Amino acid sequence: MTTVALKDVTKIFQDGTVAVDNVSIDVNDGEFMVLLGPSGCGKSTVLRMVAGLEDPTTGAILLDGDLANDLPPRERRIAMVFQDFALYPHMSVGDNIGFPLRLSRVEPMARGERVADVASALGIGDVLARKPNQLSGGQRQRVAMGRAIVRRPGLFLMDEPLSNLDSGLRAELRAEISGLVRELGVSTIYVTHDQAEALTMADRVAIMRRGVLQDVGTPTQVYGRPATLYVAAFLGSPRMNLLEASVYVHLDRYVTLNLGDQNLYLPWDDIRARAVAHYHGERIVVGMRAEALTPVAPNSPGDVLQGRIRYLEHHGHESLAFLDIGATAVVVDEMGQAPAEQASEGGPLRRFGHAVQRLTNRGASAAAVQELGPSRSRTSVLSDPGRHHRRPAELAVRLAPYPNVQSGTSLSVSVRMDALHFFDDRGDRIDVGWR
Ligand SMILES: Nc1ncnc2c1ncn2[C@@H]1O[C@H](COP(=O)(O)OP(=O)(O)O)[C@@H](O)[C@H]1O
Ligand SMILES: [Mg+2]
Repeated sequence: MTTVALKDVTKIFQDGTVAVDNVSIDVNDGEFMVLLGPSGCGKSTVLRMVAGLEDPTTGAILLDGDLANDLPPRERRIAMVFQDFALYPHMSVGDNIGFPLRLSRVEPMARGERVADVASALGIGDVLARKPNQLSGGQRQRVAMGRAIVRRPGLFLMDEPLSNLDSGLRAELRAEISGLVRELGVSTIYVTHDQAEALTMADRVAIMRRGVLQDVGTPTQVYGRPATLYVAAFLGSPRMNLLEASVYVHLDRYVTLNLGDQNLYLPWDDIRARAVAHYHGERIVVGMRAEALTPVAPNSPGDVLQGRIRYLEHHGHESLAFLDIGATAVVVDEMGQAPAEQASEGGPLRRFGHAVQRLTNRGASAAAVQELGPSRSRTSVLSDPGRHHRRPAELAVRLAPYPNVQSGTSLSVSVRMDALHFFDDRGDRIDVGWR
């Protein structure tokens, strides 16, 4: 229906907050794009700029290929659904859904038909006469959706529409919403801080951190080959194990990844070994998801790590064991912290020489530069002592639901070397033929 393009869009608020920092995203015709990131990373601001409720400080917003920066909201053919969707309490469900049509002077007959169509598509055709306070939470959300759909928009903007609902209902409505908008073929930008929601609903996911776009791709791409340490840490449950490793190259044979007490060996004929070999004598971050680890018998041959079970977590369908393997974990900060906490963490300004210059060129205030914070600092994730980046690793390993093991005992796990992820000390992916 509508395509959206953000080109180098930056939003700096009056008080100097850089909410969106040079973001470029394309949303294709009929695509379901999910904007994902922790609270305060700039998701809503992106959405509001697309809707025309907020002006970009710099950059361009294109709708169907045309510059839309100065297009009034009502001319954008956009419908928005928010977290705290407000229904008119004194109006019936039918009147709530039909309200936008009444505003645009659609005849009552035609209005009634469109409302009935939309309501039946949403499974609320039988409650049209009720008032909002006679509905369940899920039904109310469907009414809000109906009101957005009924105008036949070219683009849906949804800002955490499910986050006020309980988890069962959320899962149900996830499937319903994505099914419905796909059926309608309406391009959608859907904002959430919930990575599971993003991965299950999206055609493509765009991950943001502190106003900066980190990665864009299909759920498989961003999960399978995260562009940054941050994306790696944000996606998936349990979180990816991120371990500090020292690299030693044995030319033509293998690359040793020293994890502290234990080593892994990347064979030279694994093409990624060449990329990792550039870091000879340095430290990198090795990422391994729980699915890359399989419990094996003690002293099994091959790529095996051994550890003591520090504790077990039972999740019903599976159990997680957390192993002490004598390694150091790299902890990625601001995974969902409140913006205030992020700001107070600060960071020495002199480190952002290039960022300062870039912003100064655009005529931004010094306050704006200060607000950039560490996202621009490019300091090492491995050696910044003030920010609690490292701690003894507890390697998350999946076990069957009722495992025959206890905490305190030792466990060996075989490591799927081809499922490892490597990141440099700035948090960027190390890979072969990477973008
Ligand atoms: N009108 C505003 N004035 C100043 N700062 C704002 C304004 N709106 C949002 N912000 C700030 O911009 C940043 C991004 O906000 P927002 O886009 O709402 O994030 P998200 O939707 O990802 O939680 C936050 O630090 C927020 O405090
Ligand atoms: Mg928001």
